[in-house]
Amino acid sequence: MGKNIDEQTTYYDQRAPEYELLYQGKGPLNLDSGLYRAETIRLCTIVGKFGKGHLIDIGCGTCFWLPLYAKRCRKVTLLDGSSRMLQECKQKLDVLHLTKKCHTVHGDFFSVELPHQKYSSALIAFFLSHVPPEREEMFFRKLRHVLKPDASVLIIDSVWSSMRRRYNKKEGFQQRTLTDGKTFTIYKRYFDMRDIECLKRVYRIGLETAHFGDVFFAARGAFYA
Ligand SMILES: C[S@@+](CC[C@H](N)C(=O)[O-])C[C@H]1O[C@@H](n2cnc3c(N)ncnc32)[C@H](O)[C@@H]1O
Repeated sequence: MGKNIDEQTTYYDQRAPEYELLYQGKGPLNLDSGLYRAETIRLCTIVGKFGKGHLIDIGCGTCFWLPLYAKRCRKVTLLDGSSRMLQECKQKLDVLHLTKKCHTVHGDFFSVELPHQKYSSALIAFFLSHVPPEREEMFFRKLRHVLKPDASVLIIDSVWSSMRRRYNKKEGFQQRTLTDGKTFTIYKRYFDMRDIECLKRVYRIGLETAHFGDVFFAARGAFYA
């Protein structure tokens, strides 16, 4: 898996300048671009109502969601393994006058040292779909470790639907091509409602599905004690 994590980081480094095209329904997408645009608007409404205290944005990327939750938070930690994604993110912090409120952490969530019970909320957007099954338990264990007991969690990710079936496997390695034609092999999984139910049960996390569309879902909640 180590080689693939390195390849994923290189992929996100190189995708950074074009990453947000996805939310405009542009770039290398398989499904109808209108769906991406419409569901992004729906997700923006959900993220706009999320966040409290000190929020950690895990795999923040270009921090696309930051303008929506920042106003509700006292402090924000933006963590990502890709330096180029964080570079995009830092440029945005300047433009949004959010440099004082936010601090960035460059590192792998699984190995970077993070304080115990520090954060009051966590955004996990399009991150979990890059976590293979053998690391899932480690992910939730660490998430629980860094969150305060009453912390809120918002998970946003990609939906498994009949439309997706035409182009992708539900889980596994897939080829990604950037606009310059470079290709990468990336681990990606898609979620159906059964997967969300399974996360709730296995990791003792109460999640309410705020949106479940053709391309994206959003589920929010908190860990049980
Ligand atoms: C699909 S992007 C999502 C970016 C952002 N959360 C969003 O919703 O627009 C996934 C991001 O997670 C980061 N990432 C993936 N695995 C990671 C890990 N183990 N530790 C830190 N960052 C990771 C990637 O570098 C990339 O920026």
